[in-house]
Amino acid sequence: MIETLDINIVKAEATRLSVTDFSQLPFGKVFTDHMFTADYEDGEWKNLQILPYGPIPMSPAISALHYGQAIFEGLKAYRQPDGKISVFRADKNFERFNKSAARMSMPSIPEEIFMQGLAALINIDEKWVPSQENYALYIRPVMFATDPYLGVKASDMYKFALLTTPTGPYYSSALKVKIETEYTRADEGGVGFAKTAGNYARSLYPFEQAKKEGFDQLIWTDSINHEYIEEAGTANLIFVINGKLITPSIRSTVLDGVTRDTIIKLAKDAGVEVEERRVSVKEVIEGIENGSLTEAFAAGTAATVTQIGEIGYLGNTYKLTDSSTRTISNGIAKKLNDIRYGLASDEFGWNW
Ligand code: COI
Repeated sequence: MIETLDINIVKAEATRLSVTDFSQLPFGKVFTDHMFTADYEDGEWKNLQILPYGPIPMSPAISALHYGQAIFEGLKAYRQPDGKISVFRADKNFERFNKSAARMSMPSIPEEIFMQGLAALINIDEKWVPSQENYALYIRPVMFATDPYLGVKASDMYKFALLTTPTGPYYSSALKVKIETEYTRADEGGVGFAKTAGNYARSLYPFEQAKKEGFDQLIWTDSINHEYIEEAGTANLIFVINGKLITPSIRSTVLDGVTRDTIIKLAKDAGVEVEERRVSVKEVIEGIENGSLTEAFAAGTAATVTQIGEIGYLGNTYKLTDSSTRTISNGIAKKLNDIRYGLASDEFGWNW
């Protein structure tokens, strides 16, 4: 039996709910009243606490700041028709968090701390879970190295935190994306499969360049010859080619996305053939040109299912089909949303 943990709770003096405009919720800017934190010291996790959301005191020498030993996750909680709250596939995010921790030489977080911390935090801030359509409570687990030491080594001390933020969709409409042929998000044998801070930091400069050229996001390609498609922005990328769902296979440079995995399972369940394999840029461009590529979308927790409207490649623009006509991805996205919001039966046991 899993023991019930002792979590020290310090409640906020007043809630910020009444001064929060739930019709204006840009992604990741408004935080709930509380956060969960724990510290790793002397080889064990301790100081499990729920605190008012706010600054965390720390030394300017902590190694996370200097060497980027930091990981995070993203998952969501959804308001159900009966008013209860359900967290979607928390077990998958928990597993991936510890995979990222192992790659970054960080301690794993025990399942009971992750899950009980999450449940306690959502319970205390349950009024913050939005009820509007397509809105959810985004949950951000994060762990970072806290040794105040400038030598390059794995830290002995870490902080784990859970933050929660009510939010709407990350992207508002179909994206215009550029296939990146100069910079890369991840390299063979590197940390691309881990959700570590530096992967996102290194994407900022190429993203800014693409924005200047009028694109909303990038399609990342492999670091060797920029020949194969890997991801889209901060999400996985999925195509429909000749009626089959086709997506880059998971490798050291591709994140094992929970939304990607969910979509694959739903597609197979609906009788759609799925191929997880390397997808070349050539195949995608030719598929758009000859009409065999009918759908393309980004899949991620923050992005949910975001349609790709146009693809730029080597100075040319390729326009895709009107996103409202995309029956496969729109059908799967609807089923996914219905399960998350408790409007369809949870056949796979994904809601917690
Ligand atoms: C998520 O989809 O949860 C992500 O991690 C993307 C985030 C970096 C905005």
